[in-house]
Amino acid sequence: MSVLRSVVTGVGGYLPENVVTNDDLAKIVDTDDAWIRERTGIRQRHRAGDDQAVSDLAVEAAKRALAAAGRTAADIDLIIVATTTADLTFPATAAIVQRKLGCPVGIAFDVQAVCSGFVYGLTVADGFVARGHSKCALVIGAETMTRLMDWTDRGTCVLFGDGAGAVVLEPGEGQGTTDDRGLLGFALRCDGTKQDLLFVDGGPSTTGTVGKLRMLGNQVFKHAVINISEAVVAAAKQAGVAVSDVDWFIPHQANERILTGVANRLGIDEAKVIQTVDHHANTSAASIPLALAEGVADGRIKKGDLLLLEAMGGGLTWGACVIRL
Ligand code: ACO
Repeated sequence: MSVLRSVVTGVGGYLPENVVTNDDLAKIVDTDDAWIRERTGIRQRHRAGDDQAVSDLAVEAAKRALAAAGRTAADIDLIIVATTTADLTFPATAAIVQRKLGCPVGIAFDVQAVCSGFVYGLTVADGFVARGHSKCALVIGAETMTRLMDWTDRGTCVLFGDGAGAVVLEPGEGQGTTDDRGLLGFALRCDGTKQDLLFVDGGPSTTGTVGKLRMLGNQVFKHAVINISEAVVAAAKQAGVAVSDVDWFIPHQANERILTGVANRLGIDEAKVIQTVDHHANTSAASIPLALAEGVADGRIKKGDLLLLEAMGGGLTWGACVIRL
């Protein structure tokens, strides 16, 4: 049976130049390198320049993904940006990215699912690409999380960073089997009753301000391993693969202990888990495509590999998807 699949044909990542080490943070809040490394695995994060908006980070990642796919801005008919740190309340950052890249008139909008945004965005894009409504799509995760930090709160400000990652998605003919290239299955979840565990205390229709990130870190941690594990199993089941068939796990990079906690719970060999959190911290919706881009660039992840992407974030939202590259 011939089916249309959404195939990843190019990936790219971008981290702003400015690096902030744990020692740098220890100069402004009561923390130290050893505490941050031991609890999170993070040793540094990148911070966007004052002249860089989140759309600028998105554009750099998109250019790299387009080059890897052998496509140009002129080919793009759909742009989805997963972000929680938009340039403006409106228009959507995707519309700004369309303009900055010089793409033709097409579909462009943002997806807001915080750290799960890239997984949500991919599955939304699949609804266009795998139905023949898009011939060439950009799905971008881009964040300037440092702009949401309360720099007096050591429990949150050490955890986040800025960055962007992007993939090009194109339709490809498959046979309806798990050998097909493309998005094979997914599971998305949201439990709005857990809002108070992780949120930003501002917004256009409440305070009229952007607000600052607030988190009950140890409670988020407890939910993360259980929720992500459940979504991984559900996505694998929907795709028709076993978790043990997966070549590479590409988790949202929040915290090394969450990554290893999920791997241990599901019996996944830690050598199959792409870990990049150490050098860019939690970049929310950007972290999965950043990790994917790094794994492809260094030759670990190859065309034809079975990938499992997973995330959890504010909402609480969480989810996973299975892709054959
Ligand atoms: N430096 C030094 N000490 C600190 C720091 C810091 N940066 N932050 C907190 N502490 C202190 C606390 O004040 C507390 O001190 P006390 O015992 O004197 O009161 C102590 O460390 C322990 O605090 P906990 O919050 O219980 O520490 P925990 O071991 O839970 O680690 C952490 C905190 C790293 C935030 C952990 O809970 C975590 O990673 N949670 C997941 C949160 C996360 O990753 N969120 C991202 C968004 S959701 C997602 O992406 C999955």
